[in-house]
Amino acid sequence: MQQKINDLLRRVEEFAPQAAAEIEEFRIKMMGKKGEVTALMEEFKGVAPELKREYGQRINALKQATLAKINALKEEWAAKAEPDVKIEDMSRPGTAEQLGSRHPISIVKNEIIDIFARLGYTVAEGPEIEDDRHVFSSLNFPPEHPARDMQDTFFIEKMSNEPHVDDILLRTHTSSIQVRTMETQKPPIRVICPGRVFRNEAISYRAHCIFHQIEGLYIDRNVSFADLKQSLLYFAKELFGEKTQIRMRPSYFPFTEPSAEVDVSCNLCGGKGCPVCKGTGWLEILGCGMVDPNVLTANGIDPNEYSGFAFGMGVERIAMLKFGVKDLRLYFENDVRFLHQFDSVL
Ligand code: DAH
Repeated sequence: MQQKINDLLRRVEEFAPQAAAEIEEFRIKMMGKKGEVTALMEEFKGVAPELKREYGQRINALKQATLAKINALKEEWAAKAEPDVKIEDMSRPGTAEQLGSRHPISIVKNEIIDIFARLGYTVAEGPEIEDDRHVFSSLNFPPEHPARDMQDTFFIEKMSNEPHVDDILLRTHTSSIQVRTMETQKPPIRVICPGRVFRNEAISYRAHCIFHQIEGLYIDRNVSFADLKQSLLYFAKELFGEKTQIRMRPSYFPFTEPSAEVDVSCNLCGGKGCPVCKGTGWLEILGCGMVDPNVLTANGIDPNEYSGFAFGMGVERIAMLKFGVKDLRLYFENDVRFLHQFDSVL
């Protein structure tokens, strides 16, 4: 019996499970109803009375040692047990990340910039909060000139007594960037100027108080109206398709002389006349002209040596024509159902 006790004690000591489940198996094997320690207790009944005390103590010690070992092992394994994470079925389809997309106004703006970049234009930008000089007076809008009323201006309240902050306003057109470019660059100048502009207009399906324009300016020796016309024809064909025609109608802008408005043949009806072009076959897309000599002089460029042309267009209007969008307000509402329609146009 002593031999059995010693054997069992050794096995308890040496027991080193490889998995948590083995601990419970071991407990049953030792202490269960038919366990080996339990069997020893049965055997104990037949021990001679004078030895009972001694063996009783030894068997008790074995029982204690076995239980202590099992409990210690159970705690140890519970602590190191992996969190109960099941490995997902790796072949299941994943959830796609929602990707953002470009705003249609950015798409059209970038396309226009790309077309002029192919003609050698670089991008120039300027501030949205401007002064009278850059938006009006250096562009040949004299004070009190009625042409100032062509654009309903937001003025910014005077916050200081310094004289030069007398006339701060939100730019009404990107033509102000023409002035800033002439201030810092010498001809030849070839810039394309995108930007946000502001006018005090009632918001409707065709007008907004905030919108986007793209301005172009080319100044060099011997720049002619024919250069202007050819550049704009190239632009229109690139933007609306090879079959596109342009026509120029005389117009007036203070900063260009002569001035013109440019129409493109309606890309929906091919010029036959439809509701979009109101039956005329033509759609107006931009204003342009030869830079007025007064503007060159006001900005330090000699009109006897240099000439140039300029043009300006509204990005929302072009985007409406290109995408067939009938209400300009949609571009400002950021409704994803509208915006997602342009996901693939990149
Ligand atoms: N600045 C004009 C506007 O906002 C657009 C424009 C017309 C720009 C003719 C030009 C131009 O550069 O030559 O209505």
